[in-house]
Amino acid sequence: MRTEFKNEAFVNFKEERNHELYEQALKKAEAELGKEYPLIIGGERITTDRTALSINPANHSQVIGIVSQADAQLAEKAIQVAAATFETWKRTDPNERARYLYRAAAILRRRKHEFSAIMTFEAGKTRVEADVETAEAIDFLEFYAREMQRLSLPQPLTASAEEENELYYIPLGVGVVIPPWNFPLAIMAGMTTAALVTGNTVVLKPASTTPVIAAKFMALLEEVGLPPGVVNYLPGPGGEVGDYLVDHPLTRFISFTGSRDVGLRINERAAKANPGQKWIKRVVAEMGGKDAIVVDSEADLDLAADMITMSAFGFSGQKCSACSRSIIHEDVYDTVLERVVERASQLKMTNPAHADANLGPVIDEKAYNKILEYIEIGKQEGRLVLGGSTGDSNGYFIEPTIFADVAADARISQEEIFGPVVAFTKAASFDEAIQIANGTDYGLTGAVISRNGANLEKARREYHVGNLYFNRKCTGALVGTHPFGGFNMSGTDSKAGGRDYLLLFTQGKLVSDRF
Ligand code: SER
Repeated sequence: MRTEFKNEAFVNFKEERNHELYEQALKKAEAELGKEYPLIIGGERITTDRTALSINPANHSQVIGIVSQADAQLAEKAIQVAAATFETWKRTDPNERARYLYRAAAILRRRKHEFSAIMTFEAGKTRVEADVETAEAIDFLEFYAREMQRLSLPQPLTASAEEENELYYIPLGVGVVIPPWNFPLAIMAGMTTAALVTGNTVVLKPASTTPVIAAKFMALLEEVGLPPGVVNYLPGPGGEVGDYLVDHPLTRFISFTGSRDVGLRINERAAKANPGQKWIKRVVAEMGGKDAIVVDSEADLDLAADMITMSAFGFSGQKCSACSRSIIHEDVYDTVLERVVERASQLKMTNPAHADANLGPVIDEKAYNKILEYIEIGKQEGRLVLGGSTGDSNGYFIEPTIFADVAADARISQEEIFGPVVAFTKAASFDEAIQIANGTDYGLTGAVISRNGANLEKARREYHVGNLYFNRKCTGALVGTHPFGGFNMSGTDSKAGGRDYLLLFTQGKLVSDRF
């Protein structure tokens, strides 16, 4: 008997011992930097002539891994192997499939810091951010394994005297999984294992900036005995390999997390039935956000300042859930702004490998340049009250940046920046604040800080986001506790980490047997 699902506890970094353990893990990870990572198709390791470097965003000169790159021919091979493997994998006992996930979770729990340390090097995650992410990866494994076991039980149907009726959730086929770089372990593992535990086979195209942590996870799946070909590791250039995989007639579904532009492109391409294709492809897409924290006139203003600071600058704002807009009632605007500036100016920006880092670099040069461009735009659209500059030029460091007095329709209020930049907007009333909060194309997360119960009820009805939080931050959804996904251009609201999620990777088959 399995215990009930429980969220994995976070490591307490107030204890010195845990820092020592983390430092040992950093040393171990450092010793492995610069290794080569081949593709893995059907268990076969394939090294290609074309390679790409994964580098440390906190230190450009440090190579994390040299990663083989697929082309269209290897993408074809991966799809064919996944399609052939599907014929056996789809018939495996769901409990067996769940057991691979339980085993992987157990190992990940034992070797937590080892995985977290790689993310410190490859994604620029601080110790706390990396640990929270590894805990989330464990949660996804534990949660989806239990969910598959629940779905494989007889499903409740209206009883009939003359018939025996049963509903089965059967797998779809070959899935293309395209995860993001900002949660390169948790979301990647969640998307991959949800697809495989339901009986599908996977071609996994890891994010180009974080392929090494994905390779480590792939090695873990091999270690627990997952049959070859169930997951195929296929790094490669998005335009070439991504499009090929999405367009392929044997691709049955695409599970994507990333930018709005790429998500819409995938959705459009997937809609076209190509010769030999027998189904409508399913697209699960989780895209961007332009999330806001609304602060009411009656509110705990210290709590508001804490939650805005954490939600805006955690992992340098590189979360689709990050607070990039603070919409504050005019009565408390100046106080909240001042308190956020005070807190944000205390944040220590340094190499995330250091124990005291609160904030590391942004992911790569492209992101760095884009964020700096938005900071220039922000200077035209608002009043720069904190940050705006870069840090240590060995990495892509950008200071926590706050713009005040920004109009609701300004570009920095409307466009996703995906960096440590937050815009403050003044609202004349609570109603206006909610209206401003709803005034973007997105609808992922949002928070309201208020002591007014009637206003919270109003926000519950009117604030149109997939994940709405009261008197807390708008980031940090927990698996099972806060199923995660958003409305409008934020995606298909697939609610990762929730009870509906696995259904997206299955189709229901009803068998009615009349005696
Ligand atoms: N699930 C993450 C959060 O809630 C974002 O992907 O912050």
